[in-house]
Amino acid sequence: MNIAVIGAGYVGLVTGVSLAEIGHRVTCIDMDHKKVAMMTDGHSPIYEPYLEDMMRRNLRNGRLQFTTSHQEGFDGVEVIYIAVGTPQLPDGTADLQYIEQAAYDIATSFQNDIIVVTKSTVPVGTNARIKAFIDEVSMTERRVDIVSNPEFLREGSAVSDTFYGDRIVIGADNQEAANVLEQINEPFELPIYHTDLNSAEMIKYASNAFLATKISFINEISAICEKVGANVEDVALGMGKDRRIGEQFLKAGIGYGGSCFPKDTNALVQLAGNNQHNFKLLKSVIEVNHTQQKKLIEKTLQAVGELQGKKVALLGLAFKPNTDDMREAASIPIAHALKKHGAEIVAYDPIAMANAKKHLPEDVLYKASLINVLEEADVALILTEWNEIKTLDLSTYVKWMASPIIVDGRNCYSLDEVKKYPIHYVSIGRPTMNQRKMSFSIK
Ligand code: UGA
Repeated sequence: MNIAVIGAGYVGLVTGVSLAEIGHRVTCIDMDHKKVAMMTDGHSPIYEPYLEDMMRRNLRNGRLQFTTSHQEGFDGVEVIYIAVGTPQLPDGTADLQYIEQAAYDIATSFQNDIIVVTKSTVPVGTNARIKAFIDEVSMTERRVDIVSNPEFLREGSAVSDTFYGDRIVIGADNQEAANVLEQINEPFELPIYHTDLNSAEMIKYASNAFLATKISFINEISAICEKVGANVEDVALGMGKDRRIGEQFLKAGIGYGGSCFPKDTNALVQLAGNNQHNFKLLKSVIEVNHTQQKKLIEKTLQAVGELQGKKVALLGLAFKPNTDDMREAASIPIAHALKKHGAEIVAYDPIAMANAKKHLPEDVLYKASLINVLEEADVALILTEWNEIKTLDLSTYVKWMASPIIVDGRNCYSLDEVKKYPIHYVSIGRPTMNQRKMSFSIK
């Protein structure tokens, strides 16, 4: 099948490259000239395991190409995927300007019948509006069908999520168009679930909101665990063994970040409100998430006493491991709060430091290795559970920090292991280990 993908961001690029990998001829269209030149040369603009290799393979075999021109990209295609961003507007609703632009570009460029597939996360009802808009603007008699095909990939594991995902959702009000989408996706050999348009759009929001709810739920449980002396890791495992609950997304920590959960939970609250429903549960989920980041600062203050003039090492900056994405990363509010308290910040992330510079306070010092940040640090804050950080031997902290204190926002170490070292170790929802007496009290 000949396919065009509008938007070569996270979702668009992974979708385009994966569709080429399973045998389709794909043209990815992006308005950013520099990015298109880079991708044409086989370099991925985002850090995503396995993506670049797959991209190069398909560029070489001629199934994949990149362009800034719609005319070139649309030439001879039967299916157009829309994978542009739907960022958040100040009131929490989704900004649909890029969707509207894509719909306009399609409406004004097409002479033959096409199927438009929306990958972008869009409020319920948007796909129907895209179709109505294209039908209205376009001057031809050709037929346009629309299919909602929401994306469930996670950054950092986007390629494996695409090839080994749990389901593919195809939402359409037209059976023929749905069948074409099924054929396109058949080589993935994943379960395919058909719905109407609105339900497919809702599945995406409801899935992200539910996963965010799981995270905030376990974070609330972690707060109670701290008070009653239980261990949230054991609690989560014990709960997760019940298949009705499941083990995933029960990792307590400094809350969810990234380009999806924060934006989609806000958008769903707005969508509900616009339809006269007060989504109280989801509002609390969002509030709990903000609290988690503040709690890490409180824990740090409790451990160190005061932060004025103290050297704080930030280990990991990206919103999660295996990505250089800093959008809504917990490290951003945490670094700004530390600075307000007068701390000197040194930071390390294996991949995200270049992006972090745009978001963190200007005077943060970036270091080339974990050892470099730990040297002379008064306290180490673990913010992203990169493998390199999770597997760092605890003796390294003892060797490089004068008086090691770790505030672990991702529960990277087992308490049994920590016990063996003279480290004051504070984590989330677990007892503090080797607590040191402070020489002064918190104001
Ligand atoms: C999320 C969803 O998981 C994907 O299914 C969806 O396709 C994607 O949003 C999207 O809408 O495009 P993503 O944001 O890439 O994917 O990353 P996740 O792995 O879901 O993590 C999101 C945040 O939750 C991270 O900050 C992570 O640290 C945090 N998290 C995750 C926890 O705090 N605890 C957990 O147990 C799991």
